[in-house]
Amino acid sequence: MKNILVTGGLGYIGSHTVIELIAHGYNPVIIDDLSNTSLDVLKKLEEISAQSIKFYQADVNSETELTRIFSESDIHAVIHFAAFKAVGESVNEPLKYYRNNIGGLISLLQVMKSFEVKNIVFSSSCTVYGEPDHSPVDELAQIKKANSPYGNTKQIGEEILSDCQFLNTVALRYFNPIGAHASAKIGELPLGVPNNLVPFITQTAAGIREKITVFGNDYNTKDGTCVRDYIHVVDLANAHVKALDYIRQHPDNHFEVFNIGTGNGLTVLEIIQAFERVNQLKLNYTIGGRRAGDVEKVWADNQKADTVLGWKANIGLDEMVRSAWAWQQQLQ
Ligand code: UD1
Repeated sequence: MKNILVTGGLGYIGSHTVIELIAHGYNPVIIDDLSNTSLDVLKKLEEISAQSIKFYQADVNSETELTRIFSESDIHAVIHFAAFKAVGESVNEPLKYYRNNIGGLISLLQVMKSFEVKNIVFSSSCTVYGEPDHSPVDELAQIKKANSPYGNTKQIGEEILSDCQFLNTVALRYFNPIGAHASAKIGELPLGVPNNLVPFITQTAAGIREKITVFGNDYNTKDGTCVRDYIHVVDLANAHVKALDYIRQHPDNHFEVFNIGTGNGLTVLEIIQAFERVNQLKLNYTIGGRRAGDVEKVWADNQKADTVLGWKANIGLDEMVRSAWAWQQQLQ
């Protein structure tokens, strides 16, 4: 069974990916520094998969710790999730983002090189497109100057990987993952006040927040609110399994990038309405001003993922908002 090192494997996308890896015959080895998650997630992963999972509490910035971990397991490939992701925070604390997201990647690649591990799946983001000239946006679209240090770390990360000729890289450009595992044992666990839309919605529905503010209804979209491509996190997790399969089947590949989205654009109000309809509740929301740095509309052209990776999103919007609420409810 192939060992897959999963950095940030106790985070939101990482934890769902660990479950899908096990279901598809891979053996995950998790590294997480617990900076934005808790050890309880490991327990839940072991409950869902009914097996024990190798875990290291370690920081990807430490080459010493990484060296120890690589020497203890024969690693076939790395899935690199471990990174900070709060856009607003990255504007205020750019060095924190460059140190962790870029420094961590470089440390990891150094150690991979010395152990002759060349296979890597990288967590990139649709943020690399900035405000695209048109949507759906495909992988050949122009990469514009990032509108935040966070976005820049994803652009630079892709460039570093593509410059490292020894690697076989698949970079996945995620659109907006939402929802939770069907068991409701794992999901998105924001620390403090959530930045992202769906955790804010579920916390408002749960009474933790008084109301949610929709950031602007004067955009050039069908109802004036921003459009995103929301994708179920389990579908996104499965894209990583497909990426590993692709790397195995194309050992001489060097660098490939794929959009991972459903191909459907939805407005903020459409998400709120779906959440209310499916979960049969009313959400307290108001319309506020625009959030600085927000993109008006972006959704994926996912043809390449379909034809080259053999990956498609299968889970619909109703299950996304149902599972998000089921997860929130069991947190209380
Ligand atoms: C952004 C980045 C994405 C990054 C993610 C990490 C872009 C295009 N996307 O996602 O790459 O991985 O952050 O956190 O830069 N909204 C409200 N009220 C709220 C919260 C959000 O109306 O309280 C709206 C936003 O204005 C936006 C939509 O909901 O239109 C989605 O917001 P969010 O969940 O924060 O994701 P992005 O900003 O798309």
